[in-house]
Amino acid sequence: MSHKITVLPGDGIGPEIMDETLRLLEWIVERDPQLDLIWEEFPIGGASLEQYDKPLLPEVLKAAKNSSAILLGAVGDPRWDDLPVNRRPEAALLNLRKQCGLYANLRPARIYSELVESSPLKNHRAAGADLVIVRELTGGIYFSLPRGIEGTGEHRRGFNTLSYTREEVVRITEVAVEIARQRSGKITSIDKANVLESSKLWREVVTETVPDDIQLNHLYVDNAAMQLVLDPCQFDVIVTGNMFGDILSDIASQISGSIGLLPSASLRDGALGMYEPVHGSAPDIAGTGMANPLAMILSLAMAFRYSLDAVGWADKIEKAVDQVIASGKRTADLARDNEPALNTTEIGQAVRERLQQMEEI
Ligand code: IPM
Ligand code: MG
Repeated sequence: MSHKITVLPGDGIGPEIMDETLRLLEWIVERDPQLDLIWEEFPIGGASLEQYDKPLLPEVLKAAKNSSAILLGAVGDPRWDDLPVNRRPEAALLNLRKQCGLYANLRPARIYSELVESSPLKNHRAAGADLVIVRELTGGIYFSLPRGIEGTGEHRRGFNTLSYTREEVVRITEVAVEIARQRSGKITSIDKANVLESSKLWREVVTETVPDDIQLNHLYVDNAAMQLVLDPCQFDVIVTGNMFGDILSDIASQISGSIGLLPSASLRDGALGMYEPVHGSAPDIAGTGMANPLAMILSLAMAFRYSLDAVGWADKIEKAVDQVIASGKRTADLARDNEPALNTTEIGQAVRERLQQMEEI
């Protein structure tokens, strides 16, 4: 079956890590006659603002909606910081998520045993950690109305709304249940039900939606943030709202030692999915060759798994990345003081070499 991929490199390190990922995609397509993939690249975020004065063109949104998978690098550039929220590069990403209905964001985080030393957590805390955050992505405080800044001068007021409908909570919980079934059958739901009504409803609905064969517990978000660094191994599947998921996934990234290793998949009911690293555009290191392409490469693996009907390639890419890390190759974000750092291209090449070796066996 033929699949279209919409490629959105975006800003900062986005284009660099995307180049490496597309090199890998080309390499795979050349070797696998079964794969019928075509891809087309478009600007998004700051890159689109620069050319077209808009962060997301309607034709880009249309192409994205008509594809099987969207590969997104990163959006965000300090040059556009003064723009109103709905014109900033980030608005493009939020719009894409919302307009494509991608409500379920999967963010796996685990420790690679060879990287235990790179994790800021003490070894015995990080060892064995392996969890996935299921973040609700198209509701909550990111999207609820009313929102805005009103008044003038000293009397200005900024406001947002946090709301969740029962239906929104049911469908994200069902995704978490499905994932828990493929893992250890355990879900932790994270909310702030001691203060917020939206969380009180969240907790009630999660409780009634999770079936009896799944083990369910609830944590308040402040405690959850502490538990993630104190004892990350207690978690398997975490289900939570949009903003708590945003914050907790950055914390969880440090289990693995670097946010440069964390991929994500944003899904809806049906094939279309968007695949992007959890990290941002990192403008401070853009153009230096320091960026770690592995989160983007692992996001491509997730695309093969969830949208492109090629689970075999997902497994192989993940295995190749494991082997690259096990062999001691490190980008700057992971190299310790005495270790040499490879650049973006060298790590990308190392992944292809590992795949080549696998193909030869
Ligand atoms: C993320 C990012 C985005 C978010 C930003 C860039 C809008 O931080 O995907 O975690 O807040 O969702
Ligand atoms: Mg974030």
